[in-house]
Amino acid sequence: MKKQILDILKTSDDFISGEDLSRQLGVTRAAVWKVIHNLRREGYPIKAVTNRGYRLTSTPDVLSRDEIAEMLMRNNLDSIVSLAAFEPSAGSTNQLARLAADLGALDMSLFIAERQTAGRGRRGKSWLSDSQEGLWLSLLLRPVSEAADTAKITLFTGLCVTEALNRLGAQTGIKWPNDVVSKVSGRKLGGILTEMIVEENQVSALIIGIGINVSTQVFDPEIAATATSLRLEASCDYRRIEVLAAILTAFASRYPDFAAGGWIKDYQQLCLTLGRQVLVIQADGTRWEGQATDLDDDGELIVINQAGEPKTVRSGEVSVRGLLGNS
Ligand code: BTN
Repeated sequence: MKKQILDILKTSDDFISGEDLSRQLGVTRAAVWKVIHNLRREGYPIKAVTNRGYRLTSTPDVLSRDEIAEMLMRNNLDSIVSLAAFEPSAGSTNQLARLAADLGALDMSLFIAERQTAGRGRRGKSWLSDSQEGLWLSLLLRPVSEAADTAKITLFTGLCVTEALNRLGAQTGIKWPNDVVSKVSGRKLGGILTEMIVEENQVSALIIGIGINVSTQVFDPEIAATATSLRLEASCDYRRIEVLAAILTAFASRYPDFAAGGWIKDYQQLCLTLGRQVLVIQADGTRWEGQATDLDDDGELIVINQAGEPKTVRSGEVSVRGLLGNS
């Protein structure tokens, strides 16, 4: 009934009385009121005026379990992705996925939170996501191939996310290995954190956490100089459900070819690090500069150092002149 009331409110350009709603749906006015109350709690701005009824004053970008389930069906994703959890607030969707993995969650289980109170980024950093202005999700994979290591699946996901955002009209590229950055401002729009669950020396699950800043207009001072959102870059509104649909569609359509590895070429096309001068900061603090020229078959970065020697960069931080992502 919630969906029916919401649909009626969305399509009605005037107030609609509780009596009309209860007659149309064959339920009591008290039941209508309860649904209206719940919709308001979910964030829908519904105005109530005595003797006139209810009116949705704007269509906010609210995510709900129903809306996500419907989107999965509409995009023929419901047989591939299963919505394992949708939470108005969670510590971290990666943590939700980890708990569910222990309880036997299946391949391609999806975990989404409207807000995260303890969002996690790479290298032990926190990921600011305590608002509904972004898309915070995790996909749990039960890897079937040996090629499914965290580094590779992270690059692969970066490719899928970047392609999806570009399909929606954004202009994004990848700062190696996995920062999704705006090609216009060089600022970071999103990131990916992959975690591995190992049991008896075998990878039993991979958890891919994806965070995208969608409608954020003001960032916390600590990231204000380097972060951006789809809204800020394009000056138009993106609905999170559409961003989610695009990302899942891109991932689901490419995933069957993941193990074959041909996608690395497509990643290279979108990788803004290649051809640029980079500063490599190794785990032990050593710093050196060079020119990023290529990726090898494992997705590792080839950097020509100042002596003209090619070096393979596996981990460590890489700063790229002109790009502001933080990894
Ligand atoms: C990065 O540092 O670039 C990676 C950021 C990953 C953030 C996402 S948001 C959803 C998922 N849950 C988390 O706690 N982190 C990831």
